[in-house]
Amino acid sequence: MTKVHSEYICQQCGYHSSSFLGKCPQCGEWNSLVETLLRPSTSLGATEGQASVNFEKDLVRLSEVKSQRVGRITTGFGEFDRVLGGGIVRGEIVLISGDPGIGKSTLLLQTAMRVAEGTKVTKEPKEPKANKTSGFSGSSVTSDTSVLYVTGEESAHQVKIRAERIAKVYENLYILPITSVEGIIAASEKISPTLLIIDSIQTLTTDKLSGSAGSVGQVRECAGILQRLAKSSHTPIFIVGHVTKEGNIAGPKVLEHLVDAVLNLEGDGMHAFRLLRSVKNRFGSTFEVGVFEMTDAGMLEVSNPSEIFLAQRISKRPGSVVLSTIAGGRPLLCEVQALTTSTIFGMPTRRVTGLDFSRMQIVIAALSRAVSLNLASLDIYLNVAGGLKIDEPAADLAAALSIASAVQGIAIADGVCAYGEVGLLGELRPVAGGKTRIAEAVRIGFSDFVTPDKFKTLEEAVSYVLHGE
Ligand code: TYD
Ligand code: MG
Repeated sequence: MTKVHSEYICQQCGYHSSSFLGKCPQCGEWNSLVETLLRPSTSLGATEGQASVNFEKDLVRLSEVKSQRVGRITTGFGEFDRVLGGGIVRGEIVLISGDPGIGKSTLLLQTAMRVAEGTKVTKEPKEPKANKTSGFSGSSVTSDTSVLYVTGEESAHQVKIRAERIAKVYENLYILPITSVEGIIAASEKISPTLLIIDSIQTLTTDKLSGSAGSVGQVRECAGILQRLAKSSHTPIFIVGHVTKEGNIAGPKVLEHLVDAVLNLEGDGMHAFRLLRSVKNRFGSTFEVGVFEMTDAGMLEVSNPSEIFLAQRISKRPGSVVLSTIAGGRPLLCEVQALTTSTIFGMPTRRVTGLDFSRMQIVIAALSRAVSLNLASLDIYLNVAGGLKIDEPAADLAAALSIASAVQGIAIADGVCAYGEVGLLGELRPVAGGKTRIAEAVRIGFSDFVTPDKFKTLEEAVSYVLHGE
C-alpha cells in the first residue's frame, strides 16, 4: 500500500513534526499533535485556480438556484423521523453519539432493517437467485433500494443474532464487517445504498495515515472521506461516534462541524428510557427529542411519554411533585422527588439527579429564605423519576415545592402540576411555553396548576400546595 505523506501538526500552535511527539516542543502542550495528510500547497494564483472552477456551472446567482423539495426517507420510527426534522435527507451526514452500551447499534440496526423493509422491491425478480446466502450478486436488488450497515465492532454473525431478535431480516440489507474507509467507499459505490450506516467512526482507518483507529487524525480524515462520498453520491450516512471519557465525541469534537446533524442518545443504564436529542440539525430544528424504551426486542418508540414517566408515581406521598417540562419543543410530564433527612455530620449533603446542581443550590437557598425553613441542618436529595435530565429553569418551582412538601411531611394533592422559574428573592418568573405545558397536563388529567401566572412568590405557592391557602 503506498503511503501518502502525512505530518504531525500541533493543534494549538501549528508546529509541524515528521514523527509523533507527546509534547509540542514549541508551545509545550501535551498530546496536541495530530496526524494530518499533506496536501499540495495552494498558492494564491488566479491562473491555477481557473482549472478548479467551472464558471458556467459553479458560479451561480443564488436567486437563480432552483429550490429542491426532495422527499425524505423515513427511518421507520416516527420519533426518529421527527428528531431528524421529518425523515432522512439525501446526502446528509448524521452523527449519532452516546455512551457505550446506551443502544446506538441497536437503534441503527433497527433503522437499517426498517429502511430496508420500506424500500424493498415488492416485485419478484424475474430469475431466482442462484445462491441466496452469498454476497452481493447485483441481480435482484435495484440500485437504490439497499441499506449498507458497516460494522467495525461486531462480526456479521453477532449482528445477525441481534437482528433476529428484533424483526425479519430483508435481503436488501447488507452487512460489511470491515474498518477500511477505502473499502467502504468501494462497497458503497458498488451497491449505491439508500442509507449507509457506519458503526463506529472510531474503528475506521484510512490507508493514507499511519495513526491507529480512533486517533483524532484518523477520525477526522475518515469523516472527511465519508463526507465527500455523501455529497457526491447523495447517499445519507449515519455515523456512530462514542463519547470519550471527557464527554467529547472522538476527542475534541472533531466531527461536529463536519456533519449536518448531531443526535445524542441519552439515558442511564438503570432505566430503560432513552432520549434521542438533536443538538445540531441543518435540516430541522434543534432540541427535538424522541423517546424510546430499550426492551428485549430492541428499541420501542414511546409515543405517550408523559403517561410512561408518571406510571410509577405513588400518589399522596410527601416530596413528590408533577412538573410539566418542555423537552425538545414538546411538553412532557414527569415527577420531581425530594427526600430530606437530618444531617448527621456538620455539612449537609445536597445530591441532585436529573436537574442542574447549581440551580438547585439557588432554589434551596431561595426556599429557606422565602418560607423560613431551616434547611441548613437537612440533607437534601432531589431526583427526576425515570432517568430524565432536565436543564430548564422551569423545573425550579417543582423542585422547591417537592422539598417543602418533604420537609413538612405534607403530600401535594393529586391534580397539582407545577412549573416556573424561581428568582433569588423568591419571586416566580414566567417561562416559555405555558399554554403547551398546561394543554399536556390537562390531557393527562391534571386540573390544578401552580404557575408564575397564578402565584407571584414562592411563599404563596408553597402555602397554597401545602395548606390550600
Ligand atoms: P448497543 O446497541 O450495543 O449499545 P451501543 O452501540 O450504544 O454501545 O446496546 C447494548 C445494550 O443494549 C446491551 O446491554 C444489551 C441491550 N439490548 C437490549 O436490552 N435489547 C436488545 O434487543 C438489544 C439488541 C440489546
Ligand atoms: Mg455499538
